Amino acid sequence: MNALDVDWLDAWSFEEGAARASALFEVTFGEAPAGVWSAPGRGNLIGEHTDYNGGLVLPFALPHRTYAAMRARTDGHIRLVSAQEAGVVREIALADVAPGAVDGWIAYVVGTAWALAQEGLTVGGFDVAITSCVPYGAGLSSSAALEGSVAIGLDALYGLGLGGDDAGRQRLVAACSRAENEIAGAPTGGMDQAAALRTQAGHALLLDCRSLEVRQIPFDLAAEGLALLVIDTRAEHQLVDGQYAARRTTCEVAAEVLGVGTLREVTDLSGALAMLAMPDALARLTAAGQDGQVVARRVRHVVTEIARVEEVERLLDAGRTAEVGPLLTAAHASLRDDYEVSCHELDVAVDAAIAAGALGGRMIGGGFGGSAIALVRAEDVEQVAGEVAAGFSAEGLTPPSFLVAVASAPAS
Ligand code: GLA
Repeated sequence: MNALDVDWLDAWSFEEGAARASALFEVTFGEAPAGVWSAPGRGNLIGEHTDYNGGLVLPFALPHRTYAAMRARTDGHIRLVSAQEAGVVREIALADVAPGAVDGWIAYVVGTAWALAQEGLTVGGFDVAITSCVPYGAGLSSSAALEGSVAIGLDALYGLGLGGDDAGRQRLVAACSRAENEIAGAPTGGMDQAAALRTQAGHALLLDCRSLEVRQIPFDLAAEGLALLVIDTRAEHQLVDGQYAARRTTCEVAAEVLGVGTLREVTDLSGALAMLAMPDALARLTAAGQDGQVVARRVRHVVTEIARVEEVERLLDAGRTAEVGPLLTAAHASLRDDYEVSCHELDVAVDAAIAAGALGGRMIGGGFGGSAIALVRAEDVEQVAGEVAAGFSAEGLTPPSFLVAVASAPAS
């Protein structure tokens, strides 16, 4: 297979995305929107399944964005249309939004308005038309891009004054996370919303999920002759199914048995593993429906992953980005073997990329499908993509799609 057979997922320009959302708004609601706001999907260099453990993550914004054309309404109603189901207008009163009351994609939109109101902010009804070039179900956080575009739009429409600085954006992140957790019913950990709202172009975002402090780390791969290839395996992943929640529960039970608030507090991994193997601890784990050996592997992933984020931070600061590769590959092994959230397609993607000369690679996001990343030399991008596509074909898998990740702008 040669590079011509590879499917590249192009991002729209801001202008194109805004024009598409405006056009959908006008054709649906018969008037021009007050404005168009947008938010990016995210990649994550390292730090997976650490956010809900109070750990460290290092995501960045993709050039692929979700666009929301919006206009305020005075009657407290929300009317919604999406390019994916053009012609279908959904409507709900903001006052009727509540946990358990809303299904499907609109939950991420109306949930964001609901969560802002719950935080004591004055928001009302609105019309919104959504369109997106963030691949859906690809583990690139199309849901956080949707929440982020609506949050930044409501911030402007209702004059909340939060979008202008990082402290305000942190409050928007909190509302988006709450929408996803409480209205959409996905118990996710907040990394994706922070990536959508608190990143900066040209930087990866080191986020401490315990303190919520951030540090912008310059992330210009091209300057070091490198590129980050994102491989969408097309194996669709879901965060509202039970596996993600089960991992989270296991971590919470483990922390409780270890006597810490979150697994971030575990500084001595072998001590913690020894403690989990004691009869007392095992009995408590069993009573909580957990298997002691499985719990130990989950804890090992989280603790070693947080250490890998710290190591990657050091390498990026030192301008030694190529050396990040093996840490990505180690993270993949940990996610596959200890955390058990990989799948055949993700393993094929990572193995094929490395066999083709990638410096390292791993699955990203929640897992069980979605995307992988591979750190490659800039001149090898096409070849690695071609060989990954060939690897998928040899396994009889649906052809993957690719994009080259360039750290892009946050919601605006
Ligand atoms: C999903 C969730 C995030 C995070 C990742 C795993 O993307 O939305 O909160 O937990 O999985 O790192």
